[in-house]
Amino acid sequence: MTSTSDSHHSLRGLGAAAALAGTLIVGPASAAAANDASTDRSAGDNAAPHLAVSESDFDKTPNGQQIARYHLTNRNGMAVDIITFGARIQSITVPDENGKQADVALGFDNVKDYIDNQSVYFGAIIGRYGNRIAGGTFKLDGKTYNLPKNNGPNTLHGGTQGFDQKVWAASPIDTGNAVGVELTHFSPDGTMGFPGNLAVTVRYTLDNNNDLRIRYSAVSDKDTVINLTNHVYFNLAGAGSGDVLDQVAMINADQFTPIDKTLIPTGKLKPVKGTPLDFITPTPIGKNIHADNQQLKYAEPKQGGYDFNWVLNTKGNIDDLAARVTDPKSGRTVEMYTDQPGVQFYTSNFLDGSLKGAHGNTLGHWGGFTLEAQHYPDSPNQPDFPSTTLKAGEKYTQTTVYRFLPE
Ligand code: GLA
Repeated sequence: MTSTSDSHHSLRGLGAAAALAGTLIVGPASAAAANDASTDRSAGDNAAPHLAVSESDFDKTPNGQQIARYHLTNRNGMAVDIITFGARIQSITVPDENGKQADVALGFDNVKDYIDNQSVYFGAIIGRYGNRIAGGTFKLDGKTYNLPKNNGPNTLHGGTQGFDQKVWAASPIDTGNAVGVELTHFSPDGTMGFPGNLAVTVRYTLDNNNDLRIRYSAVSDKDTVINLTNHVYFNLAGAGSGDVLDQVAMINADQFTPIDKTLIPTGKLKPVKGTPLDFITPTPIGKNIHADNQQLKYAEPKQGGYDFNWVLNTKGNIDDLAARVTDPKSGRTVEMYTDQPGVQFYTSNFLDGSLKGAHGNTLGHWGGFTLEAQHYPDSPNQPDFPSTTLKAGEKYTQTTVYRFLPE
């Protein structure tokens, strides 16, 4: 992936940017000054678009902990909000071909909704292990570890209190070519049954190419397993605007990991060719979603839906396109690039229209899709899958980019 570095240097100079937006902060020292949320944000929203990051108060947790929101903008009028509760993407506003803005990420506008509706994982960083671990158990170095089961017989997304429910420490980033926020979390040895004290860092950055880049790193003091991902749901027509069945998906994968009825991989890889999972050629998400297919029925027994791990052809090469989804009506497109071996493409099969999101949106069945860059589900129990073991003292890293078009 190439990226140009024409990053508005004149505006990026602190004084100029701050004068334009009235909101720019670049270091912890200025955080207090930026806490007057509403006035600062409206001033920023009216200013000429440019690369900037500002911090404001989002909401408080039930026990009174302040949750911060980091507002990233670029010169194309794109804006991303990251909150410290679950290190989540709370909103992504992108213009369409005609400059019309829409928030394309499903989210809530308060912490209570994120807690009460924990199981949808809107925008969250997922850990310690994204996706499922069969039977809530795995063996490592000859020892058996037991995890809380929160998805039928299995453990999903790190257990009952995963990283999505944690308040992360945060500070703003300004690299010159990008702005963002760095979030850190310390997960003590034994958390949710996983071994090792684990220190995790997630860096979100936005640049003027409309790349929202997520860099993850983690270190443990004991051998452990790890599979981090982000669970943002996209609806390129705008969150709450209906379903995504007309949006056209391409997934650069010849194979997927077939599942059993509890959504655990069988351990085999299967070609997508001739199945409703074939998105090699761009295909509307809804085109084959009702096909009479056993795998689809496991993923969503009633109405049809995708919830599978595709084996990416990119083989860890972040320069190769892993997936692309386009909304033909607005022209908005998201592309994903990643160094991970797989992607979970999930069509919000568990949403049923009873949820109200941010902006009062109703979020219904198929109201969004996820592209969760990841290692394959249940890898700790699948010796033939790429390993998710993190050795004591070694560094886990991941980079995934969501690029939005038109620029
Ligand atoms: C992942 C899973 C889905 C579902 C969602 C959260 O995408 O694969 O089955 O659990 O998370 O609702």
